[in-house]
Amino acid sequence: MTAQPITVDLAANATPKAANVWAIGSGKGGVGKTWFSITLAHALAKASQKCLLFDADFGLANVHIQLGHNAERDLGTVIAGKVSLKGAVTRIEETGFDVVVGRSGSGSLANLPANRLMGLRSDLIDLAAGYDTVLIDLGAGVERSVRMISAQAGRYLVVTNDEPTALTDAYAFIKLTTMFDPDCDIRIVINMAESVREGDTTFQTLLKACQGFLKIEPKLAGIIRRDPKVKEAIRQQAPLLQRYPGCKAAEDVMAIAQRLRQG
Ligand SMILES: Nc1ncnc2c1ncn2[C@@H]1O[C@H](COP(=O)(O)OP(=O)(O)OP(=O)(O)O)[C@@H](O)[C@H]1O
Ligand SMILES: [Mg+2]
Repeated sequence: MTAQPITVDLAANATPKAANVWAIGSGKGGVGKTWFSITLAHALAKASQKCLLFDADFGLANVHIQLGHNAERDLGTVIAGKVSLKGAVTRIEETGFDVVVGRSGSGSLANLPANRLMGLRSDLIDLAAGYDTVLIDLGAGVERSVRMISAQAGRYLVVTNDEPTALTDAYAFIKLTTMFDPDCDIRIVINMAESVREGDTTFQTLLKACQGFLKIEPKLAGIIRRDPKVKEAIRQQAPLLQRYPGCKAAEDVMAIAQRLRQG
């Protein structure tokens, strides 16, 4: 990994955290952040929570693609000043949660200057006051935009699988997050585990690195088993909990939602 200059976001550190805002990150791409964010939002909505999912993958937004939902208003229209962030909220009727969708391949979103990112973050925190939980689906990587948009999150959910690259990048994400916010609530989601036992071994590997080098002990949010139904649901652009509510991965995300609601 190439070293990148790190600047401390003073505005973020000076502002209190929004406890009901949870950022979902990973470092490595393709480990299941977007699918997990959608399914967790759905699970929370099923438990009668008022939930908003914010697509913060500014380069390759795809919450709306996985949901098969074409929104008239998206983050692009917000950045263009045509609509407020609140005005870009869309209800996904079949799931019962709200989304702010991104715009895939939008250079203007991917290159937002720091002041616009901070403005967007502040609007999101204001919007969060009207919800039980707000989930931020982060893009891959650990760049400035990923860190800035999530800097006031009350909780981080770091998604990884058992691949060495995914674990290394999850560790890098945790390291940078705790560097700026040493007391943050950070929890691990092991995705695509062949079994609960293998998922636990993967968690222990990451935990040992965090204990040894960072002197922190992130908790396990949960283990999600690899399940072919995930790909099938995505291919059909249908929420997993609607299409295959009894499958292994659905059960695992429902269990994670229940634990997270408990604190
Ligand atoms: N538990 C699972 N079992 C089987 N396949 C899974 C599981 N979770 C995710 N996948 C597969 O992983 C793919 C990538 O998922 P997703 O797009 O949510 O990842 P991502 O981390 O958001 O990627 P990106 O970093 O590109 O935004 C999905 O298309 C799906 O096929
Ligand atoms: Mg994604």
